[in-house]
Amino acid sequence: MSTDVGSGTGDGSTVPGGLWPASARIGADGAMSVGGVDLRTLAGQVGTPVYVLDEADLRARARATREAWTAAFAPEGAGVHVYYAGKAFLSVAVARWVHAEGLRIDVATGGELAVALRAGVPGTDLALHGNNKSDAELVAARDAGVGRVVIDSLVEIDRVAEVAAAGWGGEPGRRAPVMLRVTTGVHAGGHEYISTAHEDQKFGLSVSGGQALAGLEAILARPELELRGIHSHIGSQILDPAGFAVAAHTVLALRAELEARTGVLVPEVDLGGGFGVGYLPGEVALDPERIAKDVVAAVTDACTELGTPVPHVSIEPGRSIAGPSTLTLYTVGTVKPVTTDSGLVRTYVSVDGGMSDNLRPALYGARYHAALVSRHSDAAPVPARVVGKHCESGDIVVHDAELPGDLAAGDLLAVPVTGAYGRSMASNYNLVPRPGVVAVRDGEWRFLVRRETVEDLLALDLG
Ligand code: LLP
Repeated sequence: MSTDVGSGTGDGSTVPGGLWPASARIGADGAMSVGGVDLRTLAGQVGTPVYVLDEADLRARARATREAWTAAFAPEGAGVHVYYAGKAFLSVAVARWVHAEGLRIDVATGGELAVALRAGVPGTDLALHGNNKSDAELVAARDAGVGRVVIDSLVEIDRVAEVAAAGWGGEPGRRAPVMLRVTTGVHAGGHEYISTAHEDQKFGLSVSGGQALAGLEAILARPELELRGIHSHIGSQILDPAGFAVAAHTVLALRAELEARTGVLVPEVDLGGGFGVGYLPGEVALDPERIAKDVVAAVTDACTELGTPVPHVSIEPGRSIAGPSTLTLYTVGTVKPVTTDSGLVRTYVSVDGGMSDNLRPALYGARYHAALVSRHSDAAPVPARVVGKHCESGDIVVHDAELPGDLAAGDLLAVPVTGAYGRSMASNYNLVPRPGVVAVRDGEWRFLVRRETVEDLLALDLG
């Protein structure tokens, strides 16, 4: 077989291909283990589909990102904060892990805020995002004393100021720390829906249109608000680092312009997340050290040119920390050869999940990889498409897979790099209960988020 889980007799060595969680290994019988847990045993104990998260891998990615960026900016005397973007995947345990690794957390809703707080992360280490924050979310942020609210519109300036009139984090008179999200015109990322800094979309205030500067001045005019800095997020799944440098320059020029007009030099610049990962064999992720070096060079050049000091920098990676740490484990059901219009025979492999546990192929045309992980096979690979169990033909998990010709019901398939925007975007379409998330480490597993049951779904239905 030609998949990157290796062939021949496995020797317990690292799985080639670069897509699998760091602790994935192939045993002598061709079966995969992650975190020392045999996926066949796990499937037998917890059922499928299930997200399998390599705890050490996720934590190592969090740590490596913080270390790379901190080291890159240290020679400039500038501090860095890495905020893990909880939208990628957040649970209480994940919030604790990334916080223990020295990261802060970016939350985009009251739900994400509640999970981070439940994990014991102090409010000061949280940032609240959102283009349409509710009153309840702003009050919850105030009561928790979140370290920053990222303001997304002119109307929100007054709304946050009004909420902060009662103080912040239980301290009367304390101002609300805020940033302003701006759009730099840089359009980067894998798909229009996940690219956020070009102008014709809902996020932030335009730099070129002048609203960004007006927004910053309006914040400075409100005594209830403390302007911490300027925020830019240019998109997601970005594999070309050039966009970050261009956006950084635009944001730093805006910072200098604000200083020239008001005398206020904001201390911080947040460059958002978006660092791309590999989903297919051969696709290379943005390396945190390389991107940090590129960005520090762009930031220092821009600051020299503008005559301003290098600011404190923050970033908000989600996908690059959570994505590659996790695979989705499915059981094969129906296997059906289908002759396509061009005469090609494609094997349709139906698994026991689908678009309810991974919406990304249907929503963005995202491409994934799949491999047989429960046994060795010598059968020649055949062109295959991995599909789900939902009632529509767009319910595709992997468009173009190469899978062994003897694949049969009961085999286990794994799809790597599903840790970001997999469980977090899962749905109950067709009233399918959402899979649980199991963390593996040192030969042990535990549920971080339990599997939903039909009883859970029935409990929501009031009859
Ligand atoms: N910061 C802000 C303000 C964001 O909007 C996002 C993602 C991030 C950070 C984290 O970006 P990351 O490092 O994960 O790329 N559901 C889409 C991705 C949407 C991203 C939305 N914002 C997907 O599945 O590709």
